[in-house]
Amino acid sequence: PTVHYTDADGAVRDVEGNVGDSVMETAVRNGVPGIVAECGGSLSCATCHVFVREDQLDELPEMSDMEDEMLYGTAVDREDNSRLSCQLKLTDDMDLSVTTPETQI
Ligand code: FES
Repeated sequence: PTVHYTDADGAVRDVEGNVGDSVMETAVRNGVPGIVAECGGSLSCATCHVFVREDQLDELPEMSDMEDEMLYGTAVDREDNSRLSCQLKLTDDMDLSVTTPETQI
């Protein structure tokens, strides 16, 4: 699976990830900036906020009520395509594009 991370300045990083890892873990392990992930993926920090490419939203599992709630606490206001990247697991043929917000804190 591949994740394309675009930062707030428009720089793109393409990262080859492992099935089962989250989009957050994949970023942290590969030194992709723009994702802080203070809580390490336990859905309690909202510093792993990303914007998912609009036409790919349907490919992702629906968000839980908890994720939905946490998304109201992000540093940069949520949009319709906001997700918490620790909740997005990489699947086999995934080719996902996300944009990181200007700040997470
Ligand atoms: Fe903390 Fe995603 S890493 S909510």
